[in-house]
Amino acid sequence: MFDAYARYYDAFYQGKDYASEAAFVLSRLAAHGREPVSLLDLGCGTGRHCLEFAARGAEVVGVDISSRMIAEASARKPAGQAVRFRLGDARNVRLERRFDAVVSLFHVVSYQTTNQDLSQVFATAAEHLEAGGLFLFDFWHGAGVLSDPPTRRERSLRYQGAAIERIATPEVDAGANVVSVRYAITVEDEASGQSECFEELHRMRYLFWPEIMALAEAVGFEPLECRPWMRDRDLGLNDWYAYALLRRRP
Ligand SMILES: C[S@@+](CC[C@H](N)C(=O)[O-])C[C@H]1O[C@@H](n2cnc3c(N)ncnc32)[C@H](O)[C@@H]1O
Repeated sequence: MFDAYARYYDAFYQGKDYASEAAFVLSRLAAHGREPVSLLDLGCGTGRHCLEFAARGAEVVGVDISSRMIAEASARKPAGQAVRFRLGDARNVRLERRFDAVVSLFHVVSYQTTNQDLSQVFATAAEHLEAGGLFLFDFWHGAGVLSDPPTRRERSLRYQGAAIERIATPEVDAGANVVSVRYAITVEDEASGQSECFEELHRMRYLFWPEIMALAEAVGFEPLECRPWMRDRDLGLNDWYAYALLRRRP
């Protein structure tokens, strides 16, 4: 599923401000005493946060489950930058080394829809951290999702000579704390007029801080903070996107 997604990923997120997000992440890590020299990005996608971290002096390894995402990330990497990309599953990859910090950004953790998947990703982060090392990730925040449930959305854009249209139809499974978003995507080549249509199903787990704390503590993390993504204030009922910051216990 993620390989198909990779084909149009940068088209949909070309305007996303990766530089500000990377600066925000580093500022939260620094606020808890870590200015990471080495950093692992789980679910790095096309590598744009990784390159921002490297440009700010970190040595970075990015891991993603999609070979197409890793190919895009590797193609984007400027020569000489201290970044490496590896194919791997965040639930079980083991690089046999430790980092100052682990991050997992833009809803990667919400793609882990079962408690077992979540525990495994947290365990991977813990395995790759020194005692005192930090794990920061963002996620769909349950209170925000339930107080303002997702609705059908349409988006059209132009990218590299193609007209792309995407219709997102969400369905909430309140028993599983999962939103299934069905994307219908049409891509038309503007020069030839030829078009291609396909569908994708993205299942997203919405999470609450108390369950994150329980899952994190079970694999050796101390929960430090949970706030709205890119905001410097407490979490509110209407916040859809949040981040969590955990510290590896000795
Ligand atoms: C929305 S994208 C975010 C990519 C990137 N972090 C960014 O900010 O652009 C979600 C990514 O998570 C990856 N992913 C989902 N589950 C994964 C897993 N278990 N292990 C590794 N990568 C995973 C997907 O392949 C995809 O690249």
